[in-house]
Amino acid sequence: MAKTALARLEEMEAKAREGGGPERIEKQHARGKMTARERLDALLDPGTFVELDAFATHRATEFGMERKRPLGDGVVTGWGEIDGRLVYVFAQDFTVLGGSVGEAHGRKICKVLDLALQNGAPVIGLNDSGGARIQEGVDALAAYGEVFYRNVLASGVVPQISVIMGPCAGGAVYSPALTDFVVMVEGTARMFITGPDVVRAVTHEEVTSEDLGGAEVHHTTSGVAHFTAADDMEALALVRSLLSYLPSNNAEDPPYIPPTDPPGRTDPDLDHLVPEDPKQGYDMREVIHRVVDEGSFLEVQKGFAPNLIVGFARLGGSVVGIVAQQPAVLAGVLDINASDKGTRFIRFCDCFNIPIITFVDTPGFLPGVAQEHNGIIRHGAKMIYAYAEAIVPKISVITRKAYGGAYIVMSSKHLRSDICLAWPDAEIAVMGPEGAVKVVFRRDLEQAEDPKATQERLVEEYRERFANPYVAAARGYLDAVIRPSQTRPFLIRGLRMLRDKRVRRPPRKHGNMPV
Ligand code: HXC
Repeated sequence: MAKTALARLEEMEAKAREGGGPERIEKQHARGKMTARERLDALLDPGTFVELDAFATHRATEFGMERKRPLGDGVVTGWGEIDGRLVYVFAQDFTVLGGSVGEAHGRKICKVLDLALQNGAPVIGLNDSGGARIQEGVDALAAYGEVFYRNVLASGVVPQISVIMGPCAGGAVYSPALTDFVVMVEGTARMFITGPDVVRAVTHEEVTSEDLGGAEVHHTTSGVAHFTAADDMEALALVRSLLSYLPSNNAEDPPYIPPTDPPGRTDPDLDHLVPEDPKQGYDMREVIHRVVDEGSFLEVQKGFAPNLIVGFARLGGSVVGIVAQQPAVLAGVLDINASDKGTRFIRFCDCFNIPIITFVDTPGFLPGVAQEHNGIIRHGAKMIYAYAEAIVPKISVITRKAYGGAYIVMSSKHLRSDICLAWPDAEIAVMGPEGAVKVVFRRDLEQAEDPKATQERLVEEYRERFANPYVAAARGYLDAVIRPSQTRPFLIRGLRMLRDKRVRRPPRKHGNMPV
């Protein structure tokens, strides 16, 4: 008996939804991984997912592919909502052909990227794939190339978030790397250009896939992963939280949430938080938590270059990007990794209309042969470039040390910060007192009867003359020296004042940022 059209549709839909079948789904679950559809259900507001291309199939015929033509081709794509806001999604289905990327699979991803770009909404990619589909040869490579091209076109127009929830190997890693944020699931996510076997063959190094490209190593050592999560559910919840700080596109402001924390709140404890001994560290995270709207700080790349802290927060309900030295780690020096971390974050904020608040306490750039030979000049220059290029409102607060080039780099007036503030303990000078005295008074120290006492006297004189905020305030390089307790209301008033900031730049194709 002929099937009705409706029954045929229902049959097709059921087939598309069954993924790689019960056995492979069970294997996926046994590894602690959810299926593509379960992940989308957890990510999106209930009942909002609209699927596209559920019946897409590949047209390969080599290596028995004519007998394997699963509906959907190993990736579930479409749109939905998160907190009522439109997002585009794709979720690779490892149970279908290992989530491998062929022509049809790639085309489906490209379709959602095109829609996101056209309609101005974020794209979230859930990656779980064996990479380029071997049986499709150059068509698989072409598919990746088309995805990469769109990732670049969408960069700075709509936020792009990649969640790595399984393998992501070979050239496939470059799509997530081109997106704004990478979230990796501990234990199951793997990212590498070549796996342990190739590494062993080429460099004779023995390494496990976890140690080569797991979540931990990419979060702490390579800096590839901005966030890690204990499991799939935690990763998807994190994406929802991250999106609450981001506008849907570069023409919008980030979402405003009326604050429950009073904008005028002062914090007397801040007046005593910086230790009197300038060599003693303190936790800048505490400063941030005390200043921003209560509980609103979401730290980004927490494990990488911890001498610099970056993340999103709210001040008086409005989203800001925080960039801050961490004096508790390496005294808050600027090194290669901190420069890279800060630069990328600043540029993200500037793309998406997020004002940048900078807390400065740094003795300067990290000295050393390794830093010089690995290009601290090149990397440090990026930070200057990023701060100078950024046209969003920029406010800086020097909490203690701002020495040398690092003073200029860290959102100084000279790079066009809108409001530059300092706490009374701030020390702004070409270098720290001990180093400066040794250079300027070398001969006096050599000839002194009591070199130690002479040095102490000169250090004190230097500190009095240069290592304070009042010379910079006299020149107007600082707009105000404020009581630490007043920081929050000052910043909120500053942000309000800068709400309609407009900057015009000379036309150019694009600058040539040092990389
Ligand atoms: C076609 C693939 C595939 C691929 C996996 N499968 N990877 N099919 N092309 N690249 C299929 C398997 O044949 C298998 O099919 C199913 O997916 C599950 O794979 P298993 O090997 O059984 O799973 P597991 O043991 O978990 O191992 C997962 C894996 C492994 C580590 C990802 O499959 C693997 O090493 N795959 C190859 C990875 C790779 O080298 N990819 C190319 C990278 S280069 P059945 O039918 O048995 O279930 C690349 C270039 C991109 O991606 C270039 C962009 C510019």
